[in-house]
Amino acid sequence: MTDDDSLTQRIATALATNPQRVQRLDHAGQTIWIKRRETPGLLLRLQKGNPDAAFKAERHALHEWHRMRAPAPKILAEGTDFLALADSGRPLNALLSDPQITTADRIEAFHAAGRALAALHARQISHGRPSLKDICWDGQKITFLDLERYAARRNTPQGHAMDLVMFVFNALVVGRGMTPELNAAIQTYRANDPDNIWGLARAWCHKMRWIDWITKPVQLRRGGKAKEFKAIPLTLAVFANG
Ligand SMILES: Nc1ncnc2c1ncn2[C@@H]1O[C@H](COP(=O)(O)OP(=O)(O)O)[C@@H](O)[C@H]1O
Ligand SMILES: [Mg+2]
Repeated sequence: MTDDDSLTQRIATALATNPQRVQRLDHAGQTIWIKRRETPGLLLRLQKGNPDAAFKAERHALHEWHRMRAPAPKILAEGTDFLALADSGRPLNALLSDPQITTADRIEAFHAAGRALAALHARQISHGRPSLKDICWDGQKITFLDLERYAARRNTPQGHAMDLVMFVFNALVVGRGMTPELNAAIQTYRANDPDNIWGLARAWCHKMRWIDWITKPVQLRRGGKAKEFKAIPLTLAVFANG
């Protein structure tokens, strides 16, 4: 049996025995992530839109990113129902809350993320929704995951600005406010900003400031979604003051 055969076998077993949509597998000393296509039942479709279309979009986007030499995880194997991806390290949200990691290492990862996002935009590519959990750091390199929201039509300065707003917004949600890590990412992004994307993001936030007012009652609620609503005025302030 070749290495490829045994990998295919492992993947088939993993898909048959573990129902999770994304699962981690250790194979021949290597960590592998398997993402499966979900069969869209009616309930799932109502809750999450069409997961089948999302899977196809992501598979297509991964190939496009590889063609453009953009930093997406390497595809180790694929079928109509699954993708097996090389490990890209740990997502930024995990690094942010890990007390084992030194502040200096966390800041280094966020500097790298700011640089990687600016480099992506300099090449006129938008991610679509760069949340912290979809940006991985392996100690040397940033890799963007989860390309379900990637669309070539968003590869515009406006699309880059939306990436930047979403990144900042999500980091404020996860960090429950401004953190030295997010600040590091913003500084590096701005130092490498390819085309005054910051200015565009700022203008968009200025235009959207009414959102803060209409969501005020929800922001004052406790727990749950309130965390996200509370990050709205913080996001607007980051771009207004920057
Ligand atoms: N190639 C990879 N390298 C490292 N972690 C991964 C990889 N693929 C998935 N993961 C982990 O699994 C999580 C979910 O994968 P993701 O592709 O974002 O799927 P989902 O659509 O469920 O968000 C990620 O946030 C990350 O923690
Ligand atoms: Mg994800």
